[in-house]
Amino acid sequence: MASKFFICYNDCKKGVNALLNVTDERKKESGEKAAEFIQNGMVIGLGSGSTVYWMLKKLGELVKQGLEIKGIPTSIRTEGWAKEFNIPLTDFSQVQNLDLAIDGADEVDPNFNLIKGGGGSLLREKLVDAQAKQLIIIVDESKMVKELGKFPLPVEVVPFGWEVTAQRIAKLGGTPNLRKGDGKVFISNNGNYILDCEFHYISNPEELHNQLKLLLGLVETGLFIGMTDTVIIGCEGEVKVIHKN
Ligand code: 5RP
Repeated sequence: MASKFFICYNDCKKGVNALLNVTDERKKESGEKAAEFIQNGMVIGLGSGSTVYWMLKKLGELVKQGLEIKGIPTSIRTEGWAKEFNIPLTDFSQVQNLDLAIDGADEVDPNFNLIKGGGGSLLREKLVDAQAKQLIIIVDESKMVKELGKFPLPVEVVPFGWEVTAQRIAKLGGTPNLRKGDGKVFISNNGNYILDCEFHYISNPEELHNQLKLLLGLVETGLFIGMTDTVIIGCEGEVKVIHKN
């Protein structure tokens, strides 16, 4: 997981352009385009991931030019970046309804259903994204798929008894793998574990989400069903903005 943020980390420390590969360039274009949808006075859900990083960087520039907004971050990493770019932050104790959320995704299907959680922030992302009047998803074109499931589905589970929760997931046809990084178990921002579940293809995302949600020990799934209003896709030579019908 650490390598995913390599470009972003380096951007904070050195010049970035020489380091960008094609995918990163498309993430950058998509993230920067999303910032155009932010209007004065809005409360914004600030998603997570390397594509969101570029949106935050652009938003920081707009704030410097006088744009007045407040953001609620979906992860500790996003909170750090937002502070670095001087983006004013708030939280759910101050405001419960958001005008807009802008977030990344690991897969987007033709119905704009998503797999999220590659960075392990799916629970906070879902809490924030669900409170927004509008959700914009920013991706590079490699994330657009005909059917969800090639990307292993992240699910957040409580650490106690995760082994039996994993067995329950396996009975639904998935192969759960406990997420680790640097040889240690990955701990989410909420103190939970992430199981990356290989389903290979998910023919009915809503049904699978509902089945998983009934399992004891499972906190949330990385399936974001029917939440997305707009997808901004960084493609070769252009940035596509597609609104849900
Ligand atoms: C984190 C997420 C991210 O939004 C998703 O992994 C996309 O990340 P990136 O923009 O780095 O490809 O869901 O939990």
